[in-house]
Amino acid sequence: MAADRKVILVTGASSGFGRLTAHTLARAGHVVIAGMRATRERNAPAVEEIRRLATTESLLLSSVELDVQSQASADAAVAEIVECHSRLDVVVHNAGHMVLGPAEAFTPEQITAVHDINVVGTQRVNRAALPVLRGQGSGLLVWVGSSSSRGGHPPFLAPYFAAKAAMDALAESYAAELIRFGIGTTIIVPGAFTSGTNHFLHAGHPADEATAAAYDSLYGEIRATIDKRLPELVPPDADVQSVADEIARIIDLPDDRRPFRTHVDPSRDGSEVVSAVADRIRAEFYHRLGIEGLLPLNASL
Ligand SMILES: NC(=O)c1ccc[n+]([C@@H]2O[C@H](COP(=O)([O-])OP(=O)(O)OC[C@H]3O[C@@H](n4cnc5c(N)ncnc54)[C@H](OP(=O)(O)O)[C@@H]3O)[C@@H](O)[C@H]2O)c1
Repeated sequence: MAADRKVILVTGASSGFGRLTAHTLARAGHVVIAGMRATRERNAPAVEEIRRLATTESLLLSSVELDVQSQASADAAVAEIVECHSRLDVVVHNAGHMVLGPAEAFTPEQITAVHDINVVGTQRVNRAALPVLRGQGSGLLVWVGSSSSRGGHPPFLAPYFAAKAAMDALAESYAAELIRFGIGTTIIVPGAFTSGTNHFLHAGHPADEATAAAYDSLYGEIRATIDKRLPELVPPDADVQSVADEIARIIDLPDDRRPFRTHVDPSRDGSEVVSAVADRIRAEFYHRLGIEGLLPLNASL
């Protein structure tokens, strides 16, 4: 059992990192609520898996309907958690969706939708959860970012990369604005895991197929090469469980020991170096502004 048992909400827990994180945290002894959309329809088997695991392993693990694209859904999910458990300690912002294709071939509505899931979704969950955390005077936000917003990243993933960069920027500002409420922040930065999650499998594609085809005539070969070489950069022993393990490790650290950012990047795209430099520049700038106290206590500086 965890020495300090926490009530933890994980968004997007029907598959991939979110599913493994929910299982891992529950096995570590925490009270875990796996947020999923379509719990009575498409994700009913994932809900059943949660129920089965909770029973067979005597875990404090349950699921809740949570579509991050609906404020009503986020509000209802948090209300249900507080009703059942009287508190909420940690939110893991994990729900996300990727798209692949030439930037120009995505309609503005598609770009908006990608941001709606990856960025605005976290805002909906925050607006539901933060009043509870602020009321408690304690809590932790764990944001599942992406090495794409810090390190080297290939073309033809622009809408997704832009959204993850926006989410990272939101997380940074939130960190400074929440620290005085006793609410901590850690951004988990996974590199590419091309198998073991639905990330690449369920990726969306441009609606404007004619424009995408125009790029294919000039870039088709490069795109095919990237599609082949990206998985080759991921070492064969890269294990998606390592992301879940890192999230669980971070949550179990004492409040004043958690890193502001932590990288799990088997393909080593350089994001760790960029993060170190960016965090130092930010610390110096905060110092010049006289607001260094608003930096997460434990920023890796
Ligand atoms: N795999 C990688 O290479 C990689 C690298 C860096 C960062 N990430 C990030 O890691 C996170 C998890 O991705 P993954 O690799 O584990 O892929 P995944 O298996 O596709 O998981 C994505 C999860 O997000 C959920 N989701 C999507 N839209 C949602 C919505 N509107 N409301 C609630 N849940 C929603 C999905 O639910 P449904 O089953 O209902 O669609 C799914 O459970 C994402 O934020 C992703 O950006 C992944």
